[in-house]
This record gives sequence, C-alpha cells and structure tokens, in this order.
Amino acid sequence: NLISIIGVPLDLGADRRGVDMGPSAIRYARVREKLEELGYEVDDKGDIVPHRPDSCQLDGTKLKYLDEIERVNTELCRQVAAEMGKGRFPLVLGGDHSIAIGTLSGVLQHKKKPGVLWFDAHGDINTAETSPSGNIHGMPVAVSFGRGHDRLTGVGGREAKLDPQRFVMIGVRDLDRGEKMLLKELGVTVYTMHEIDMLGMAKVMEAAIRIVSTDTDGVHVSFDMDVMDPLHAPGVGTPVFGGLTYRESHLAMELIAAADIVTSAEFVEVNTVLDHRNQTAKVAVALMGSLLGERVL
Ligand code: ARG
Ligand code: MN
Ligand code: MN
Ligand code: MN
Repeated sequence: NLISIIGVPLDLGADRRGVDMGPSAIRYARVREKLEELGYEVDDKGDIVPHRPDSCQLDGTKLKYLDEIERVNTELCRQVAAEMGKGRFPLVLGGDHSIAIGTLSGVLQHKKKPGVLWFDAHGDINTAETSPSGNIHGMPVAVSFGRGHDRLTGVGGREAKLDPQRFVMIGVRDLDRGEKMLLKELGVTVYTMHEIDMLGMAKVMEAAIRIVSTDTDGVHVSFDMDVMDPLHAPGVGTPVFGGLTYRESHLAMELIAAADIVTSAEFVEVNTVLDHRNQTAKVAVALMGSLLGERVL
C-alpha cells in the first residue's frame, strides 16, 4: 500500500511551454493528502529535473530536444523500475507525454506482458517520418512498440517493448495520417469518441478492461489530461474539442479501480500557463483518487 510519486517537469516534448509546472500544480492541488486519505502511504521522490537548452537542438534529426528527452526518460525508467522493484506503485506526474517512454520502459523491467490503458485525444504514435511537428510527446506509443528513433527505442533496452494486442486507447479524436496507418497495421484497439458516444463509457471500459486484463501481468494507466473536453480541463497544451466529460472520466477511473488491476499510472500534460486557477490539476487529483479506490459511499 505504498505509492511513490515521481515528478517529471519536462516540457521539451511539446511546442507550448507550461507543462513543466504540471508536477508542482498537482502537488499544490494536494495529491499527497488525497492519497493518504485513501489509506495509502505516500513517498514523494521529488522531481527528475530536466536541463533547459538555450535553443532547440535538432541533433541532426527532426526530433526536437532528443538528447535531453532521452536523458530524462532514461532516469525515469531507472526510478520507476527501482520503485516497482520495492513492490511500490509508481505514480508519475508530468510533464509532457514523452515521459511515457521512460515510465513504460521502467514498467517493462518488471512486467513481461503489461496491459496499457491510454487515455488521450491523440494517438501519440508518430515516428520521425510521420510526425507533423517533430515533437516527441506525439511519439511515445510508437516508441513503446519499438518504432521510432533508436535513441528513444533504446531507453530501458530494445527488448523491453509492449505488445500492441495488450494496448487500448480511449477517447481519441485527433490522429495524423501516418498514425492511422500504424494503428491499423499493429492492430491496436482504439475506442474513439465515436464509440464512447455510441456505446457509453461503461460498455467501452468493460471491453477495454477485459482486453488489458486477459493474459497480462499488470496494467499501466497513462492519462493525458487532453482526453477530457477543454471545458473540464482547459489547462492542456493541445486541446481538442469533443472530449470526455468530468463524469465520463471519473466513471472510467472507478471501473478500473473496481477491477483491481492497475499496477502503475501517470497523469500528464497539465499546462499551468493555460489553466484557470489550477482547475486542471485539481481534476487530475480527483481522477487519481477515483483510480485508486475513492468512492462516494
Ligand atoms: N499529433 C500531434 C503531433 O504529433 C499532436 C500530439 C499531441 N500529443 C500530446 N501528448 N498532447 O505533434
Ligand atoms: Mn498524449
Ligand atoms: Mn494528447
Ligand atoms: Mn486562462
């Protein structure tokens, strides 16, 4: 019943500054107190601090800030692996979504076949070839399947990769052309907003949970705050209309909690510069509560 919080104030994977304050904003929204109320012992490991290069370094590729993002993710991988090695639950606070490269490779040091529930407006499955932006936060899913730049797929070891069959995306509504092709090629299950509208969140989560808990040895939840509608989570760098409501998001977390399957989690892309009075960080903390077992009654 021990949760290790790891903050990663990295924003080099995204075009807009501001997610580097995400971990502070989430702590300010009382994440520790929330988890302690739920009966957990909480060990806040502090932040993995990125260096800020004075200008964008392209390192001979179109991937922005590749050097520093590789370095931070390598350290994050090490820390996630260390905490799981002690039998703890790692809760990673972002930061931009490129940190999933480190979190997932860390999980893969301990789990042979983890399932992943990926909540996001985006697919984040671009490679250098398909990315319209060169931003690495649009690439972590590809990297975790072993696709993409060597320096990124090498984090945590080239063998430590996910099986697309055990990966489910939820809430997607903005995919680049190359992302659509790769998702189909790999056979990833994607519940877009269309399926959520048609079936309802309860049915979607029932199916998603069945997939990630069949023949897996753990489940990681990666929650990009932009999966929510900007109405409920305005503080994100890449908002897309037509997202999850406050209750749909909570219901998803509650159903995962009830299934009792989750072994690690990350909440990312809280952008304090664009937020209103820390609303998005507060919503993130509320969702963490639901994911980790908070109930009304
Ligand atoms: N698909 C776009 C890109 O590759 C946007 C990615 C947004 N990703 C995120 N983690 N918010 O640049
Ligand atoms: Mn994302
Ligand atoms: Mn996103
Ligand atoms: Mn504002």
